[in-house]
Amino acid sequence: MRRLVILTAATLVAASAAYAQNADAIKQRREAMRTIAQAGGEPFRMMRGELPFNMAPVQAVLKAIQDNADKFKAGFPDDSKTGSTDATAKVWEARAEFNAIIDKWAADAKTTAAAITDESTFKVEYPKLAATCGSCHGARGGYAPGLSDSFKRMQTPLQ
Ligand code: HEC
Repeated sequence: MRRLVILTAATLVAASAAYAQNADAIKQRREAMRTIAQAGGEPFRMMRGELPFNMAPVQAVLKAIQDNADKFKAGFPDDSKTGSTDATAKVWEARAEFNAIIDKWAADAKTTAAAITDESTFKVEYPKLAATCGSCHGARGGYAPGLSDSFKRMQTPLQ
């Protein structure tokens, strides 16, 4: 009986440690994605012609992608599949492909930053990079919900 109690206690401690780790990783990756998505708001509206072209926010989102890609990529340990997350099981099933999308995204953000020098280059280069969001979000990517659902999620505070 005593042995059982000790074993049960040990299991509980292990389970709560794993849970804490989960929550941290999930928070880390969601924070990284939020930083990018927030920085992307203005350039996205410029792309749709709803705001006039402005270089500073464009370069800021391209930098945010490069700065946060590794943090995002590191936020998916095996014990973070469940919890306060929208990531689908495909992240872990197709991990190499998922990581490759992130690496290419960061590399493309760097070349795009150099390629955009004015409004006309923005109009050509930016939509190509923005299409990467759809490589993961929605039915085509399958790693995360559609973008409009993910943007709604961003309205609630991160725990
Ligand atoms: C490499 C795949 C990938 C790419 C590329 C990607 N996302 Fe995400 N995104 C995810 C995953 C996975 C989640 C879910 C994270 C979680 O809940 O654990 C997510 C979550 C989000 C969220 C919700 C953040 C929150 O509050 O939890 C927003 C908003 C978002 N992405 C916007 C974007 C935008 C905008 C782009 C393009 C600029 C983009 N994403 C590109 C995979 C990606």
